[in-house]
Amino acid sequence: MGTTNDSVVSEFVLIGLSNSWEMHRFLFWFFAMFYMGIILGNLFIVFTVIIDSHLHTPMYFLLANLSLLDLGLSSTTVPKMISDLFTDCNIISFPKCMIQIFFIHVMGGVEMVLLIAMAYDRYTAICKPLHYLTTMNPKMCMLLIMAAWIIGVIHAVSQFVFVINLPFCGPNNVGSFYCDFPRVIKLACMDTYRLEFVVTANSGFISMGTFFFLIVSYIFILITVRQHSSKDLSKAFITLSAHITVVVLFFTPCMFLYVWPFPTKSMDTFFAIVDFVITPVLNPAIYTLRNRDMKVAMRRLSRKVFIIFHNFIFYITYPLLASSVLLVIISNLFFISVIAFLF
Ligand SMILES: *[C@@H]1O[C@H](CO)[C@@H](O)[C@H](O)[C@H]1NC(C)=O
Repeated sequence: MGTTNDSVVSEFVLIGLSNSWEMHRFLFWFFAMFYMGIILGNLFIVFTVIIDSHLHTPMYFLLANLSLLDLGLSSTTVPKMISDLFTDCNIISFPKCMIQIFFIHVMGGVEMVLLIAMAYDRYTAICKPLHYLTTMNPKMCMLLIMAAWIIGVIHAVSQFVFVINLPFCGPNNVGSFYCDFPRVIKLACMDTYRLEFVVTANSGFISMGTFFFLIVSYIFILITVRQHSSKDLSKAFITLSAHITVVVLFFTPCMFLYVWPFPTKSMDTFFAIVDFVITPVLNPAIYTLRNRDMKVAMRRLSRKVFIIFHNFIFYITYPLLASSVLLVIISNLFFISVIAFLF
């Protein structure tokens, strides 16, 4: 009933990425460029897949969803980090901190399930090629995406309910450049040992389990590919190695951030940046640069864009220019005739 003096913390202090002001300015531009790359690269993939009907297959639909998710995941922390670098102010309000935690775990959870779905897609395509079209139909694809979102939300909520009511009364230095469970929980004014275990189990062990499951699945698929004809071997190998790279890039930081029992600030920062900045910018490159279909589609798309641009200039800009020139001439004639009339 009564207002206790427990929850007095209304904001948290994040650490800056460095101490010097010049370094801040450099990092600001550095990460701003990276974030721009994340936005452009991932949106380019999404638009290419949506526009090009050759890419309307489960694998590319899942890939486009992954791109969108990567963009979302990095948007949970990177814009705040960039604006902190710009303003030299590392304060985050309590509600914003909670919102950040919530969305990091929703997006992270969805991405985890999506990576499993992509592995399942490749497994069906390579190990059960005759059943591929019936198994991975559009309905199944939609179902996988929906399942990913539901699981992501459950994953986030199931941890969040414990944290939202924690009493925060004194220390408010998060010790990281963003809010997340392990560091924020440590600031609560109570014994959080059990809670830390819940988080380690829910985020850490699940990502560890998923990681090993995915790696074993891909090894299994690779072995199957080896037994089949050697014609498809190199193509499948390139696709699979892209998937494996992404899996390693995504899960290694997760495992360190949630399971590693002796975190240090510099290691924390490094792995967080890998997950929120490096992976989202690398994903489009990994999936497209080594994928012939994707490259062809992108070339087609850029040709289309060029034609649209060209038509735009031809049909809009030229007439506009011509009419404005005409307008200038007419108004001058009018002006001259007025002057001639007056004098
Ligand atoms: C995500 O996957 C669904 C299901 O296949 C698909 O309909 C949708 O277009 C995909 N989203 C994007 C952005 O491509």
